[in-house]
Amino acid sequence: MAQTNQKSWRDFERSSGYQHIEVLPLNGAVAAEVKGADLTKPLPDEVWREIERAFAENLVIYFRDQQGFSRDDHLAFAQRFGPLQKIPHIFSVDDYPDVQIVERLADDKRMVVGEGFHNDSTFMATPPTTVTMHAIDVPEFGGDTAFANLYLAYETLSPAMQDFCETLIGVNSATALFGSGAGRKNVMMKDMKTEEGDNEVEHPIVGVHPRTGLKHLFFNLVYTRRLKGFSEKESRLILDFLHHHVTSMAFTGRVRWENGTVLIWDNWAAHHSAIADYPGKYRYMERVTTGGLKPAGGR
Ligand code: SIN
Repeated sequence: MAQTNQKSWRDFERSSGYQHIEVLPLNGAVAAEVKGADLTKPLPDEVWREIERAFAENLVIYFRDQQGFSRDDHLAFAQRFGPLQKIPHIFSVDDYPDVQIVERLADDKRMVVGEGFHNDSTFMATPPTTVTMHAIDVPEFGGDTAFANLYLAYETLSPAMQDFCETLIGVNSATALFGSGAGRKNVMMKDMKTEEGDNEVEHPIVGVHPRTGLKHLFFNLVYTRRLKGFSEKESRLILDFLHHHVTSMAFTGRVRWENGTVLIWDNWAAHHSAIADYPGKYRYMERVTTGGLKPAGGR
C-alpha cells in the first residue's frame, strides 16, 4: 500500500483531479459517492488507481445502482483493497465463506446489530482493514449507516492531548459480545467459545495508517475494554471523552442505502454505526472483510 505525503487529512482534495470517475463527497467530514464505475465489469488499472485514491481520501466510498453485482464481483472488488479476512462470529452465505450476512428480520425486537459508533472486530490481532457491503434488500427509508472520521478526530485534539493519546495502549476483547461479559445472544452471531471472547489484544490508541501515513484514533467502546496501565475508572473517563469527541457532528456523516449500493469503509480510520430506525422492516446485505495487518502506533 503506497503512502501519501500529506500532513493532515484536510489537505486532501477529495473530489478534484479525477479523469475517469466522478467523486462527490457527502459532506466536509467523511464519505463520497463514486460515479462512472460499473463494478460488474473489468475496470482498467487507471480507474482502480482513482478508486483507491478516492477511498484513501474519503474513508468511505459508495457506488449506486450496481445491478447484477454478484458474490464473485463482491470478492474481487474487496480484494483490490487487501487479503480476505473472515469475521469469526458472523454467518456466511452457502458456498461463499468469505461473503457474510447482515440481516434483520422484520419481526426482530432485539437490539440492531452494530448500533453505536465502533470499528469492527478490534479484538483481533489483525483487525479488519476494510469492510465492503452490498445492499440487496433494504428498506425504502431508514437503516442508514453513519460514519465518523478518526483522522479528523485525532487532528482536532489539542497538541497536549495528541501527545498524551500517543502514549496510550488500548486493551481490546470481545468479552461483551461472546465472552464472559456477554448478555443476550446476538442475532447475527455464531456460537463462539467464551475464552475466545475473553482473549485480550493490545493496539495503540493512535495508529499510523498504512494507506495514508496519517495518524488516526483507534479505539471503540465496544471492544476497547481499558487502557494498559490505567484503572478501569481512569480508562473509562479517557475512553468516554475520546468517544464523545469522535462523535461530534462535524466529524460524521450518514449514508442512505438503496438496493444495488456497494460501499466500502476503512475500518481503521473510520467508525461506523448502524441506525436503528426501521422497526418492522426487513433489511438484508452481504459483506466482505479484508485485513491481515497489525496496527502500528506513531511512537
Ligand atoms: C455493522 O456494524 O457491521 C453493520 C452496519 C449496518 O448494518 O449498517
